[in-house]
Amino acid sequence: MSEKRSSFTSKLGFVLAAAGSAVGLGNIWRFPYLAARYGGGIFLLVYIILTLTFGFSLMAAEIAIGRKTGQSPIGAFSALGKKYAAVGYIGAVIPALILPYYSVIGGWVLKYMVGFVTGEGAAMATDGYFGSYISSPSEPVAWFIVFITVTAFIVILGVDKGIEKVSKIMMPVLIALTIFIAVYTICTMENAIEGVKYYLLPDFKKFSFKTVVAAMGQLFYSLSIAMGIMITFGSYMKKDISIEKSIHQIEIFDTGVAFLAGLMIIPAVYSFSNGVDGMNAGPGLMFITLPKIFETMPGGSIIGVVFFVMVCFAALTSSISLMETVVAVFQDRFKMDRIKATLTVLVVSVVLGLISVFGYSIWADFTLFKMQMLDFFDFLTNSLMMPICALLTCVIVGYCIKPKTIIEELEIGGKFRSKLLFKVMICAVAPVCILLILLSSFGIIKI
Ligand code: TRP
Repeated sequence: MSEKRSSFTSKLGFVLAAAGSAVGLGNIWRFPYLAARYGGGIFLLVYIILTLTFGFSLMAAEIAIGRKTGQSPIGAFSALGKKYAAVGYIGAVIPALILPYYSVIGGWVLKYMVGFVTGEGAAMATDGYFGSYISSPSEPVAWFIVFITVTAFIVILGVDKGIEKVSKIMMPVLIALTIFIAVYTICTMENAIEGVKYYLLPDFKKFSFKTVVAAMGQLFYSLSIAMGIMITFGSYMKKDISIEKSIHQIEIFDTGVAFLAGLMIIPAVYSFSNGVDGMNAGPGLMFITLPKIFETMPGGSIIGVVFFVMVCFAALTSSISLMETVVAVFQDRFKMDRIKATLTVLVVSVVLGLISVFGYSIWADFTLFKMQMLDFFDFLTNSLMMPICALLTCVIVGYCIKPKTIIEELEIGGKFRSKLLFKVMICAVAPVCILLILLSSFGIIKI
């Protein structure tokens, strides 16, 4: 009896831990603006198909590698074969590059949270507020540093377990609020229903290769795959747990939150901008649309406070696991103690993050490949490094250690029903798609 109980809790624990790291700004901030930018319904459709096929297979491979070797990414890939260690290294660098710009967005959330608390909600709803805020040279720097320092503090003190408990209450509240805001906007705003159609009904004319590239990048980011994180999670997972079922739960949770966030934001932007053409969908979308919605709601300033507090928590749980991952690599590789490793990561991240912050203000004229710095870091990790990491993982699993080895691991905790899907994805579909994506990202082929 007690045995059963403990395995149940640990299964739930695994899913919640993985979901906690998966659900964050990626779902609430990044997904809606990408969906708005890349054709609404068609993006949603492509995203869901990719999640169920490609995301599923890659996540299964990563968790199985972790559980089989019992190590974090660098060690895990070396355990599969010395020559594969490089893949672990690429994976380990990705969170280090995400953390700084993630914390810049975290700083924006913090600013909006405090803004709503201090009654500045109405000002934040005015046109141009967000643009002028991020282009001011000092304030965004301060909020970014506060956010990342808080993250570092929690990592040093190791109180993230407490935060996880809080977030287990916060998450349901966040979801309930998101649904409430979505229903409210759709019922009260003019034309919002057209926006719902734009978001839900795929328009195949809007399909382009870019849709797939963007959806795949978002998939990696949101599920935290193709960067070794799931390998680490897998290494903590007990053998008697079904990996397949756990993945389905994580996917439903993660995609569900993203879907709702889109439903909350896209119809509203659609209504504010009188249709798709006026929609200016970029990283600022959430910060521009939501204050306007709260402004029109009775009691909106309070809802605004609650909402941004929740988002802040979601962001913090993710930034903590991002930093933890980077700190663990520093500890292992450079034999540093925990505090020293955390402080080093903090300093490096502040420097890298400042590049993203200043990219909107004093260095706004400087762009790399026509992107602002924050967009550039986002592109570098999501559209280049993660696909490379995913491609190499597919090749290693599909052709070097062979899918059979991984499937054996996947079958330990219960039946693995998607064998054929897994094999076809890992050996053929995924590598070919990713290769095409990479070639087009580098401009080698035009699709
Ligand atoms: N998945 C997180 C989100 O949706 C962001 C993220 C990317 C992340 N990589 C990660 C979180 C690694 C924790 C660990 O916001």
